[in-house]
Amino acid sequence: MTTTSTLSLAQVRDALLILPQPFQRGAVQDVVERLQTAPGELDPYLNFSSSGYTRTQFYHGPLYEILVLCWRAGQASPIHDHAASICSMAVIQGTCSSEVFHLNGDGHGQGLQAGEQAKLEPAGSASCGAGQILTVEGRDIHRISNRDDGGEDLVTVHVYLPPILTIRCFDEETGLCRVTEPRTLMPRL
Ligand SMILES: [Fe+2]
Repeated sequence: MTTTSTLSLAQVRDALLILPQPFQRGAVQDVVERLQTAPGELDPYLNFSSSGYTRTQFYHGPLYEILVLCWRAGQASPIHDHAASICSMAVIQGTCSSEVFHLNGDGHGQGLQAGEQAKLEPAGSASCGAGQILTVEGRDIHRISNRDDGGEDLVTVHVYLPPILTIRCFDEETGLCRVTEPRTLMPRL
């Protein structure tokens, strides 16, 4: 039987735990698509900063992590990949822009390491509004941003399976690859 009932973020966290292993992209997205945050549920995790977008931990476990990301208008992530993780993200508020890039003509720059240069090629873009889901995987390379001209904040929830330790980031101008450990904030509980 298929159920389409909505899930709070706490319920999404618990529903992921009972999915068959290894995680499949479609099954993860089916769960995240049911997200409807409970009133006030995200309040302790909303950290806006004038110096850049922020990532705040909602849950961290051995199999996956859940983060709440806050973006002022004009803020953007680096161009990055997703290590060996599936990332399913839900737009809670605002409009999220995703630009996809290919590397060196083969799509994902497999084997490209820190300090090496790649040829970045724009390969499409998409815009997602509240309630929409975007799922990427592993070496998929993109940049997320809040380009809202009206100044509206963007809030997104990201599920990473397994948790992300390091990612590859790419300089837009030079294609230079670096490996970084994304900074994560703790909630005000
Ligand atoms: Fe991403």
